[in-house]
Amino acid sequence: MSARKPIIAIDGPVGVGKSSVAASLAERLGLVYIDTGAMYRCVTLMAQRAGLSLDDAEAVAELAQRIGIHFERRDGGLRVICEGEDVSEAIRAPEVSRGTSPVADNPAVRERMVALQQEMGRAGGVVMEGRDIGTVVFPNAEIKIYLDADPKIRAERRHRQLIANGKPSDFEKTYNDLMERDRRDAVRPVGALRVADGAIVVDSSHLSESEVIEQLYHLATNHPSWTPSVC
Ligand code: DC
Repeated sequence: MSARKPIIAIDGPVGVGKSSVAASLAERLGLVYIDTGAMYRCVTLMAQRAGLSLDDAEAVAELAQRIGIHFERRDGGLRVICEGEDVSEAIRAPEVSRGTSPVADNPAVRERMVALQQEMGRAGGVVMEGRDIGTVVFPNAEIKIYLDADPKIRAERRHRQLIANGKPSDFEKTYNDLMERDRRDAVRPVGALRVADGAIVVDSSHLSESEVIEQLYHLATNHPSWTPSVC
């Protein structure tokens, strides 16, 4: 019997709640959570701060080659450290969110991010979440999940969340932004979002977050790769 803990790959579109689901699942299973979207956000933030045009593929790729990114668990949360600075909040700024698409489209950036992610998960014991984890980063992950939800429902959730946080939101605009990000994720030349071979599709359209976590927890703990003696 192997003493290796499994890799759980979770992919899915924007606004489906992957991050909070993956973080809670990792916590319950005693695995390390890795948010790969945060890594593309780090490159975007650092490129913007350096005054680079995000469409300058060569300059952005060069920056991505030398950038240091790692994650730290602090106070029960995951902190994103880039070049020694805690950028966990800075990478969530709207201008960073808007800038990520050309950065994530850049094949040389992806090559470097995928290599870092493979290094982070090499020993197993991770819940890694993104767009290409089950297809490119860890096609042999023990457990692959594709988390999906109807675009209207994803937009509605985001719209309500913005309102609840006291931020202005217009449903039509939120929906159109989400559709555009879905389109860009789907047509990306490398690492496009698609259901990985062997992935279990979980449609969360009519499930609460805790119901999704519960479902994934059962999928993981009932999977043949999961044995109490190793996990
Ligand atoms: O999930 P997110 O919004 O934090 O992702 C930020 C950007 O990175 C978004 O444009 C999708 C992209 N991304 C990607 O291309 N591949 C991943 N594995 C994760 C995110």
